[in-house]
Amino acid sequence: MSITQFRSDGPASAPVPVTFQTIQEKKQASRPISALTAYDYATARLVDEAGIDLILVGDSLAQVVLGYDNTLPVTVDEMLHHTRAVRRAVRRAIVAADMPWGSYHVSVEDGVKNAVRFVKEAGAQAVKIEGGANRAELVERLTSAEIPVIGHLGLTPQSVHRMGGYKVQGRTAAAINELLHDAHTLESAGAVLLVLEGVPREVAARITSEVGIPTIGIGAGPECDGQILVFHDLVNLTFTQPAKFVRQYGDAAALFRNAIEGYRRDVETRAFPADGESYHLPKDVAVSLNGSAVRQKA
Ligand code: KIV
Repeated sequence: MSITQFRSDGPASAPVPVTFQTIQEKKQASRPISALTAYDYATARLVDEAGIDLILVGDSLAQVVLGYDNTLPVTVDEMLHHTRAVRRAVRRAIVAADMPWGSYHVSVEDGVKNAVRFVKEAGAQAVKIEGGANRAELVERLTSAEIPVIGHLGLTPQSVHRMGGYKVQGRTAAAINELLHDAHTLESAGAVLLVLEGVPREVAARITSEVGIPTIGIGAGPECDGQILVFHDLVNLTFTQPAKFVRQYGDAAALFRNAIEGYRRDVETRAFPADGESYHLPKDVAVSLNGSAVRQKA
């Protein structure tokens, strides 16, 4: 009996966990895979309870949670801290963690050690790394260390300085051929999924049809096997102009602003807290405001 079967025999409220096998089956059956980022307990609970298949603790948290200009400054320890919070919330979805810039760029050894920390110390079920054929050796080593690897091709935000900004990739024949080569190389090295970011839909469609592993697109068109967005983009919490590929499904900024302004108004007018929102003394104790003794009735 597999662990999954065992869990499904449990209480009705215990969801059957998603696995990379079920994700692979979705590709085979042409059933779209849903993925979304999350960075803390509360949002991860909402994302998981909504039935999203894969939750990525993305290094985009450097920007949307920590306020940096790009993803480069976030550290392994910060990523571990957020991954643990997400892990505590999630019962069904796969939890994957982004390896931050610098954590796998110095040596393959470093990359393996840092990836092990994500699994051992934070409970991640997979790690994501950016790059193509140049990451093949690392993908092989991680795979042989039993760590599922998600590749990330196209517009790779950790390469922002090399790319000269956040630009759509794969627009020339040479660049498309390189992306195809990268995708095949990552698959052969053992990657279980490929994130395709910021590439023309035709290129993503071609990669998706050529590789056996699922592709998850972000700004890569509808032909990918699944889609991923940054949670804060989805709910309008980024304070920036959304990219072309973002669809906002809610306005959390407006919701939070209304709530915060309402609270401030009520505090300033003494409408909050009301008597019903206050604690009261037991009936046998009396306190007056005029400095006389505090009395306990006999
Ligand atoms: O860091 C991130 O959030 C990501 C996804 C958008 C793919 O890499």
